[in-house]
Amino acid sequence: MAGSVCKPAHSPLPLRLGASLAAAGFALALAVAPAQATEEGDIERGEAAYEASCASCHANAARITARVEGADDAEKTEALEAFLPDHYAEDDQERADIIAYMLSL
Ligand code: HEC
Repeated sequence: MAGSVCKPAHSPLPLRLGASLAAAGFALALAVAPAQATEEGDIERGEAAYEASCASCHANAARITARVEGADDAEKTEALEAFLPDHYAEDDQERADIIAYMLSL
């Protein structure tokens, strides 16, 4: 009655998928770098953007610009760069344009 077949279970080959493969994936994520890093403000584009995004509340651009803190353009730019991202000018390029326009007034 020794009908039972008892094969020794061969241990499966250890699957060693290289952990190094994981590291390769991360490099790809960094491959896309912003091509145009400089946001040069353009006064004409800024005027159009101001009309579209700001004028509904600040009809007089010169008046609101005069209220911006700062002794010179550099300081006013700094103040606007700090303020406007949370105030209707999220886009970096559009904000640079609007600031260029405001400081041209
Ligand atoms: C929905 C209305 C609204 C829109 C749109 C808007 N603002 Fe304002 N803004 C306000 C209000 C309200 C204040 C605070 C009260 C005030 O100064 O009149 C203010 C304040 C400011 C100030 C003065 C900050 C200070 O230190 O006194 C500046 C500068 C300004 N806004 C610029 C902008 C620019 C540039 C845009 C367009 C990108 C814009 N705002 C869009 C309503 C708006």
